[in-house]
Amino acid sequence: MTLWKGRISTGMADAVATFTVSLPFDKVLALDDLVGSRAHVKGLGKVGILTDSEVTQLLDTLDLVQEEFDTGTFVFEPGDEDIHTAIERRVTEHAGEAVGAKLHTGRSRNDQIATDLRLWCRRSLVGVAGEVMALQDALAQRALEAADVYLPGYTHMQRAQPVLLAHHLLAHGWALARDVDRLLVTVDRLNISPLGAGALAGSSLPLDPDFVAAELGFHGRFENSLDAVSDRDFVVEALFDIALLGVHLSRLGEELVLWSTEEFGFCTLDDAYATGSSMLPQKKNPDVAELARGKAGRLIGHLNAVLITLKGLPLAYNRDLQEDKEPLFDAVVQVSRALVALRGVYETVTWNEERMQRAADGPAAAAIDLAEMLVEQGMPFRQAHALVGGMVRDSLERHVPLVELVAAHPELGEAAVELLEPGVAVTRRRTPGGAGPGPVADQMERFARRLEVDRTRLAQWPVR
Ligand code: ARG
Repeated sequence: MTLWKGRISTGMADAVATFTVSLPFDKVLALDDLVGSRAHVKGLGKVGILTDSEVTQLLDTLDLVQEEFDTGTFVFEPGDEDIHTAIERRVTEHAGEAVGAKLHTGRSRNDQIATDLRLWCRRSLVGVAGEVMALQDALAQRALEAADVYLPGYTHMQRAQPVLLAHHLLAHGWALARDVDRLLVTVDRLNISPLGAGALAGSSLPLDPDFVAAELGFHGRFENSLDAVSDRDFVVEALFDIALLGVHLSRLGEELVLWSTEEFGFCTLDDAYATGSSMLPQKKNPDVAELARGKAGRLIGHLNAVLITLKGLPLAYNRDLQEDKEPLFDAVVQVSRALVALRGVYETVTWNEERMQRAADGPAAAAIDLAEMLVEQGMPFRQAHALVGGMVRDSLERHVPLVELVAAHPELGEAAVELLEPGVAVTRRRTPGGAGPGPVADQMERFARRLEVDRTRLAQWPVR
């Protein structure tokens, strides 16, 4: 069914229908469209445009249609151009022309789609944030289990200083905490109702946008009808949040790829979270980690696509805006799958603690501790840095173990040799937020508290 039987005399040419139809992707908005329509109907009832009995009939019919979606019995028809058309058609079939034809009173698909999309974003972004938190839980759990295991920390991909594995895992956890925060701030900002803006200018009917906004759990209504129907900032923000989250997941993925190589050998992936090779019998591949890395490209692409679509668009609604949907929907699907799969990887991966610790135990990894010991004895840091640096060079050039040079040095000696013992250096990091056992124990508590706070924030939002 088309919605414009009056002005346009003929049906759409096939090529036009094929090109403009959005049902194949906007059908995921069914739930939100029904929720929006319920509020709209109640709004029309409140201001007396619909009688009480009409309101009841329409609400019952919307429930009926909802049931058809819930049970998978809703049947789309070839003429259904988009989800709005499909639902209005079905409501009219059930409720009859007389009442069904009143559903769209005072409403345009322009404010309708803006409303649907905000409702969809609200519940979907809350869902993504929940998945991020589940991954954070897995990281926190593994951090707890890692106890005093340590590995090299790197700068420039060169071994720099040993750090606790728990510290390393929580570094990712905190990046994800910013993602959760960003998603929830985006949800909070987008929580404004465009319903009542109509096609672009509002209506001559006595609509009550404040009422429908409250019905839908929005903070309030639009301030400007033109802005209401043309604003897709929230889509861009959602896509940015997801793209950056995707970038974080790509860094996790890259790390797992590296760590699972024979060269690093820091971890062994569980068989259920690894893949084989179709040709090489010996291969065990980290495909989940690679795809987590690869999806970031697609997610950044989606953000770009929508920004470029919006650039230079005149007020108010333009059909170009339909192009916001596929990138948005796909971004949520892809990032959700990545989050779930990566969580599984972290829950099941085996850390090769031996390998990690051996890599971190090179005596030079404690060079800074030697310099800091001299500083505590009163030597200016620059001087201490040069002295220890010279010893490391000496040790390499003359093939004398650093320990021997340290032991023989008048200002260092036996006390300094102890610093070079395996596992000692990492225990000396005591800066709050640093990589040693004291600060990391404190950090784990702070991280757990942060998760609690975010869980409470998350629970404030409806998921349906
Ligand atoms: N499918 C459209 C979209 O996604 C719905 C709004 C259509 N409005 C219109 N005036 N054709 O933007």
